[in-house]
Amino acid sequence: MEYIFSLEFIYLIASITFILGLKMLGHPETARKGNLIAAFGMTIAIFGTIFLYQGKVQPLVYSLIAAAIVIGTIIGWGVAKKVGMTKMPELVSLFNGMGGASAAIIGLIEFNHYVGDQLSIATIIAGLIIGSISFSGSMIAWAKLNGTLNKPIRFPSYNIINNIILIAILGFGAYITISGSDSQLYLYLIFFAALAYGVLFVMPIGGADMPVVISLLNSFTGLAAAFAGFLYGNMVMLTGGILVGSAGTILTFAMCDAMNRPLASVIFGAFGEGTAGSDASQKSSQGGSIKKTTPSDAAILMNYANRVIIVPGYGLAVAQAQHVIHELELLLEKKGVEVKYAIHPVAGRMPGHMNVLLAETNVDYDKLVEMEDINSEFQNTDAVLVVGANDVVNPAAHNDPSSPIYGMPILDVEKAKSIIINKRSMNPGYAGIENELFFNQKTSMLFGDAKDVLTKLVHELKNM
Ligand code: TAP
Repeated sequence: MEYIFSLEFIYLIASITFILGLKMLGHPETARKGNLIAAFGMTIAIFGTIFLYQGKVQPLVYSLIAAAIVIGTIIGWGVAKKVGMTKMPELVSLFNGMGGASAAIIGLIEFNHYVGDQLSIATIIAGLIIGSISFSGSMIAWAKLNGTLNKPIRFPSYNIINNIILIAILGFGAYITISGSDSQLYLYLIFFAALAYGVLFVMPIGGADMPVVISLLNSFTGLAAAFAGFLYGNMVMLTGGILVGSAGTILTFAMCDAMNRPLASVIFGAFGEGTAGSDASQKSSQGGSIKKTTPSDAAILMNYANRVIIVPGYGLAVAQAQHVIHELELLLEKKGVEVKYAIHPVAGRMPGHMNVLLAETNVDYDKLVEMEDINSEFQNTDAVLVVGANDVVNPAAHNDPSSPIYGMPILDVEKAKSIIINKRSMNPGYAGIENELFFNQKTSMLFGDAKDVLTKLVHELKNM
């Protein structure tokens, strides 16, 4: 019975909830519950630590902890409630930065207490460096995503300079550890150098590559928290840190794989800053031209189709058109048309973006079909409706070895009998490149904001 009220037991339960929560986040149907379960684990770990801690604690410290919890909860809850789906990567980056800052602060505070104990100092320095890089890097990522910093800033030879700074930081950290120095000056020097490195590391990266960088920084924060857990011998902090660190690393590589880009090219490359935003021509570079359509013609095409596949992309999220697309799907089904959604792993701007967006409108999960499973179905599909997606349906990934997206797995939309593409203009997507699908004989362009166009489509279909 005594064990049940011990901190070890609470930490064990909390660790189990983290693992369970993470597993449940793997499917849209269980994700919400998984999040709540892990949050419950974190809550009992926090309160268990406060109330079951055996050491001496001043009453003032309890008041400060209570004030921090109240203020943090109010801010966190308020921000999370208000944030729009397209702003989610920004919020993740901000929260992640706070985690990195906490790990760095632990290093700054604990250094003095462990001078002479080389293993602990090595742990503290490692956590301080990684946490500081994660904090300042996440803040830059946040500023880039919200548009405050809207251009990648690249100094000449920035790669070489950054690498030299990183090596210097690591060397200096090793020196502090091995020399047994108790210098606060050295400690703060390494802290500020790591902060500066975080800024320099993220600054040159194109804004659109930020989700990958955030996920990488996320794994850094996890690692820094794990170091803190190791320092304190705190099992739940160690488990949580390792889970965040490994999940972040797996996600980073999964995203890179789905974009067919090595991590090094995200960090050092220039992809993503191309011509995006410039008004592209209605003629392809090969001389082909586009065919426009209207909501009424598109509605007729879909009304008489047996099978329709909807391809959602980033533009659907921007337009917040998830509810109206669900309405369209239900309407078509009522008319006897079989409707499915084709989900590309990196459609949108964050992992699982389309799943989360569509789950918000209660789309049946069975209708969300992953790329590998739906690609063979396009050839038997009468009409494909592409809404605000571009790169993930660009056949250049198959056909053009000179294209920056060559080799990226895509949805084989061009195999369908007819293709309707909704976007606002001929502007390119994230990769900043032309899409030859727009000039395909089978393609009709349905220009306009996704929400407006889909509303008109629904209206037309209702009148048929
Ligand atoms: P994109 O290739 O970026 O294309 C989105 C399209 O949506 C744009 O061409 C844009 O054209 C259109 N659009 C924007 N606002 C719209 C609105 N209100 N109504 C209708 N259309 C609108 O998106 P995608 O196909 O989803 O591909 C995602 C890209 O992001 C990939 O290149 C991927 O590698 C990259 N990326 C994804 C992730 C993750 S994890 N999801 C992470 C990093 C990078 P107009 O401006 O003409 O409307």
